Formats: sequence, C-alpha cells, structure tokens
Amino acid sequence: MAKDTTRRSFIKAGFAAGAGLAAGQASAAGDPLITETQDWNQQLGFGVDERPYGIPSEFQKHVKRRSVPWLTADPISSINFTPLHELDGIITPNGLCFERHHGGAAEYDPASHRLMINGLVDEELVFTMEDIMRFPRENHVYFLECAANTGMEWRGAQLNGCQFTHGMIHNVMYTGIPLRLILKEAGVKADGKWLLAEGADASGMTRSIPMEKALDDCLVAFKMNGEALRPEQGYPLRLVVPGWEGNMWIKWLRRLEVGDQPWHHREETSKYTDLLEDGNARRFTWVMDAKSVITNPSPQAPITHGPGPTVLTGVAWSGHGTIPQVDVTIDGGKNWHKARISGPSLDKSMHRFYYEFDWDGSELLLQSRAHDSTGYVQPTKDELRAIRGTNSIYHNNGIQTWYVNKEGVAENVEIS
Ligand code: MTE
Ligand code: CO
Repeated sequence: MAKDTTRRSFIKAGFAAGAGLAAGQASAAGDPLITETQDWNQQLGFGVDERPYGIPSEFQKHVKRRSVPWLTADPISSINFTPLHELDGIITPNGLCFERHHGGAAEYDPASHRLMINGLVDEELVFTMEDIMRFPRENHVYFLECAANTGMEWRGAQLNGCQFTHGMIHNVMYTGIPLRLILKEAGVKADGKWLLAEGADASGMTRSIPMEKALDDCLVAFKMNGEALRPEQGYPLRLVVPGWEGNMWIKWLRRLEVGDQPWHHREETSKYTDLLEDGNARRFTWVMDAKSVITNPSPQAPITHGPGPTVLTGVAWSGHGTIPQVDVTIDGGKNWHKARISGPSLDKSMHRFYYEFDWDGSELLLQSRAHDSTGYVQPTKDELRAIRGTNSIYHNNGIQTWYVNKEGVAENVEIS
C-alpha cells in the first residue's frame, strides 16, 4: 500500500483532490478566497505594543492542555496532559507542558527562594538564586515522562487520544547548573551515597536519588526553552534527572540532603512502585524505557482529507539513550516499515518520526515501535503484561494501536 511519494505524485494528488471537491464548489482557479478581496486585507493588524508577551493565534485555541476530571479527586492534586497530536518537531512549548502537582502549582518570589544542602557534607550551605546563577551553566534537551504515563491502559484500551494516553511527557531545553558542582561546593563525605531532594510546595515532595546519578548528569535548572521556568514547572528552581521517571524531578527545589541510604519516603514506597504478577512490588524503577506513539493520525487527529498522500507522524524516546530507529505498521503488524527520523537525535530526548504513505481509503491499524541505542526494542502490551500482570499503574511502555476507519476516524484499540 505504501509507495514512494515523489513531488510529482503530491502535485497530481493535489489537483485530483481539487477536482474531487469541484462538485458544487468552486474549482481552484475560481476560488473567491483567491479572486476576491477579503475583510482582513482591508484593515490594519495590531501594533507592536499590543502583545508585549506573545500568545498563539486565536485560531489555535484548541491547542491546550486538557485534564480527565474522573482521574483525580480535585484539580489541585492532579494532572493535565500535553496535546501531543497538535505538536511537531521535538520541543514542547512552555505553555503546553503537562502539569503534575501533588499540592497545586506554587508561585514563589525568587528573591526569597533558598536552596539548602545538609547531611553528610563537609559544610552545610544555603544558596540564594543569585548564588546559583554564579555557577557555570549547561544547556540540555531532555524529556520528562511521568511514571504514570499510559498507566490507565494496563487492562485494555481506555482513553481516546494520544494526549490522554501518552501526554504526561514534555521535551524541553533546560539551562541549569550541573548538580555535581553544587555538591562539590558543599563537599560530599565518603559515606554520602544517597541524595534526598525536597520541594518547597505544599506537598513537600521528596525523593531519594543515588549519588552516582546525582554526580552524573542531573541539573539544577532555572530556565526552560530559554526563559524562566513556568510556575507550573517549579519556578524558580527544579531538579532535572535525565531519562528517569518524572516524579524524581523535584520542582520548587529547596533542599538537598546527603545520606548513606535511601529514605523510603511515600513517593518511593506506596507510590511509583510496580506491583508484579506474584504480588511483590518492585521499587526504584528509575529509568524510563524506550517508548513511542503515533500522534497523527490518532483519535483527536483523524484523517480529514480522504484517500491519497497521507503523513503519519509521532514521537519516540528512551531514558537509556537515543532512538536510532522507529518502525511503523499501518496494517496491524503484517508489514513493518522504517520511519524517517527528522530533527536532532539527542540523548534522553524526544525524537520525531514520519512515515508518508498513499492511503487507499481502507481501514488501518497503526502502530509504532521504538528501538533505542542499547538495542532494546519497545515491547507489545501483552509482552509487558506477561511479566507485570494487569494491576500495575506505572511504567507502561507497550506498543499503542490506533484503528482508523474508512472515514478516517481513529480509535484507541488493542490487537493481540
Ligand atoms: N515536585 C514537587 N515539588 N511537587 C510535585 O507535586 N510532581 C512530580 C515531579 N516533581 C511534583 C514534583 C511528578 S509526579 C512529575 S511527573 C513531575 O514533577 C511533573 O513535572 P511537570 O509538572 O513539569 O510536568
Ligand atoms: Co509523575
């Protein structure tokens, strides 16, 4: 079904589509949108002082974070989702990054924010934001995926849209200080093997992080995509823990304690653990395994143009490295095709893939399968369930299927 979509075939198809529309409508040459002067050609646009901080076009109002009201008891300790089906490339715009707060989004004055280091250090220290800004900075693009992303799908296809099934992820360029420089300043004692990171928000979130990771690639970040962190993302300071589950990326970071063992706090015992088939719970599943999802077509982004050249696109990521390959199928796995990855291929960052095909108007079963730089291949949901059972919530990186009917309408389904 897939065939080479050369430039010539696109142009031919374009005319064919125009001709198809011609029944009762203007042909391309007689289109009044081209031949007549329109209202908006006759009035001046708005001036440069109108929007000192830019906002998207009013025709983009549907591009927004959405929540699922029944998922949580109230909107304060809740979650909303990134509209993946409306995005392209690899960077998530700041205003569309999903939010997960356990005690609401706090807004702090950076002038009174402090970061303290205590515990097994040579010298306990307190930094102001000004102190933090005097350390050497680094820029890195990383994905943040909540461990609960796709968590509603363990027992079967449930939420109808990649925004809801896969939208607990964002991919941002952070500017920050390597955590190791801050730890070095305080001097970690020889038995300092663990780090507790604590947030200043009402939830007082805490997580234990092994010292090896803290000294490796963690950042204390203050900028996202070039501008200050948004309050929703932990302004003025957040921990960046590349490739590891989002819960560890403590927002509104106020304290780092060095210890000789993990603290076993709430978020690493009763939450963010994986109940296995045999009833035991697995702790400390830190790294987010390779995963991908087709964002278009998908339930919120049906095919509206009818048969002909069709662009399939999606995103893939791995907490273990880069994504050298993504396979896609449009017939439920009978034939797999190598997708085209376009854009930067960065370590622990989202990758964008495309697969162009000529849709013949028949039903489709769309799937994508990511391979990461360690050779690991994204598993099917059934392969995951064989190990994990169906009582899990977290760390579901199974292959997603969208069914597309002859009208181009897509639906979340499972095939086995
Ligand atoms: N840090 C604090 N202080 N409070 C929180 O509620 N939520 C965590 C983590 N860090 C949280 C926090 C969870 S579960 C996730 S998935 C990420 O932040 C979400 O980051 P985001 O809101 O930038 O998407
Ligand atoms: Co989370």
